Amino acid sequence: MTRVRIDMFASLDGYASTTGGTADNPMGEDWGRLTAAYAATRTFHERVLGDTTGAGTTGIDDSHAAAHFDGIGAEIMGAAMFGLHAFPDDPDWKGWWGDQPPFGTPVYVLTHTAPRPPIPMQGGTTFHFRDTTVEDVLAEATEAAGGSDVRVGGGVSTARAFLRAGLVDHLHVMIAPILLGRGTRLWDDLRGLEHTHKVTTEVAESGTIHVTFTR
Ligand SMILES: NC(=O)c1ccc[n+]([C@@H]2O[C@H](COP(=O)([O-])OP(=O)(O)OC[C@H]3O[C@@H](n4cnc5c(N)ncnc54)[C@H](OP(=O)(O)O)[C@@H]3O)[C@@H](O)[C@H]2O)c1
Repeated sequence: MTRVRIDMFASLDGYASTTGGTADNPMGEDWGRLTAAYAATRTFHERVLGDTTGAGTTGIDDSHAAAHFDGIGAEIMGAAMFGLHAFPDDPDWKGWWGDQPPFGTPVYVLTHTAPRPPIPMQGGTTFHFRDTTVEDVLAEATEAAGGSDVRVGGGVSTARAFLRAGLVDHLHVMIAPILLGRGTRLWDDLRGLEHTHKVTTEVAESGTIHVTFTR
């Protein structure tokens, strides 16, 4: 049965977005600190960087990173995560991930801006643009996933919309042992999530706390 999954990075103080982005570094300098343990994994080297030399960590962070890629048949993301807010005037914008994005599935980008035609990319990713409810885009993504899972990739407001609507079966949060003190909060308005989902916690060698909510 298709499950709806989210993997998110958060700081110890609960922030899941970073600030201070520039044209040269759109994610801001804190993004590297928030995601450092994941970016150090062998799975990230292989799946995102295309580095097949065997470089990267192989511990608890890596096992979660590998699970992140496993069994996903379709992806949903918000306009900001795709980059439409950073490049609103570029009709040819194809996302941050280069010619061969790491998804390898249909990716549904939620946006209120004028509909764009689908963008097929190398490696099996096709970006589709939808202006609809979280329930309706999830129904379409579930159909496309053909029995595999659907991942809500982010950003923070899109992930929170799916969580608030009670649509998420598996939430995995990688809590980096850092304090950001600013940004968008992940946990607000989610009181009682531990009552509907089973919570597990694991601490990786890097100090990252992997908290998983599953139902
Ligand atoms: N911590 C993590 O793991 C993680 C992961 C990914 C991203 N991020 C961070 O998240 C931030 C981006 O997230 P965000 O919260 O700003 O934005 P987002 O969730 O990526 O996108 C939100 C936008 O998507 C569009 N949208 C959302 N729901 C829609 C619907 N039902 N129908 C039509 N359009 C809809 C709207 O854009 P329009 O109205 O403009 O079309 C909305 O403003 C970045 O800072 C990024 O670094 C964090």
